[in-house]
Amino acid sequence: MMAWTDRHCRYLHRLLAPSALLFTEMVTSNALEHGPRTRLLAHQAAEYPLALQLGGSEPKQLARAAVLGAEAGFSEINLNVGCPSPRVRKGAFGACLMLDPARVADCVAAMQDVVSIPVTVKCRLGVDDADTDELLLAFAQAVSNAGCKRLYVHARKAILGGLSPAQNRQIPPLQYTRVYQLASQLTIPVVINGGITDSATALEQLSGNEGLIKGVMLGRAAYHNPLLLTQLSREMGLTEPGASTDQALVLQAYAQYQQYAQRQLQQDVNLQTLVKPLLGLFAGMRGARQFRRTLSDAKLLRDNDAGLLSQALDSLSLQAA
Ligand SMILES: Cc1cc2nc3c(=O)[nH]c(=O)nc-3n(C[C@H](O)[C@H](O)[C@H](O)COP(=O)(O)O)c2cc1C
Repeated sequence: MMAWTDRHCRYLHRLLAPSALLFTEMVTSNALEHGPRTRLLAHQAAEYPLALQLGGSEPKQLARAAVLGAEAGFSEINLNVGCPSPRVRKGAFGACLMLDPARVADCVAAMQDVVSIPVTVKCRLGVDDADTDELLLAFAQAVSNAGCKRLYVHARKAILGGLSPAQNRQIPPLQYTRVYQLASQLTIPVVINGGITDSATALEQLSGNEGLIKGVMLGRAAYHNPLLLTQLSREMGLTEPGASTDQALVLQAYAQYQQYAQRQLQQDVNLQTLVKPLLGLFAGMRGARQFRRTLSDAKLLRDNDAGLLSQALDSLSLQAA
């Protein structure tokens, strides 16, 4: 998620969810060709498995970007066909590409031809009035036939005229049943996305619906309440058996992140950037507000001292005591 899931956020999420597939922010193929490539691809092996999400609509340029991603070590190349922002639309990619399945198919084929890691697509249910089950199926079949290995579906349509990106994540209604129906008609795995905010709902998506849904993608809830990643990982039996409670797991992750922050500060990353993904970590627990306040204090952050993370934690436990 743009401006949210930077490499620090992903490092934290990996500590909380040992085997979840994580995604980069969207990087355009154009920026990779002409921009600060090294910075745009920066990540650590600790974040794996990690999908590089690309934005673009030029098959050859996307193929070159996919090669760069594969060479950099990413686990998957994901093409964004869901972003409704006016800027992205002006560049003729993102959600508006749903109106041109043949082009998306060309993009997928061009990428999958040159990399051995999976190329996948993230899309919506439709765009504006082009929002029927028939069009959705035609789109999905086109990308599947072109070699797409997995389809992530944000279970609402995009409205390209008049809604902001934030409104486009809220106003068009969620239609999960259309995703189930689509999944029943495809041979490639379908991952569902949109509005999933708790582990029970996520697990229900996976275990119910006749097993049609092969994965659940969490966006805002994972960012605002990263504990959800720990809960889900534990409930799915993906965390180490020794570590018992969610709180113990989170505190363990916090301690590891503190060491990470220390190392990053030595590489001139500023503290404000490093604490951003931590702000929601203790959401709902007693003292969370004070914890957040400490880590948001501009004056304290200016010192770039990782000790602030201990200080924030102290305020939390003091209140909880
Ligand atoms: C700040 C923000 C940035 C986002 N950036 C991206 C992006 O770069 N690529 C993408 O595929 N989706 C992006 N999204 C959309 C989410 O991935 C997700 O599809 C959407 O929020 C619905 O899922 P959720 O209800 O679990 O959040 C972004 C969402 C937010 C809130």
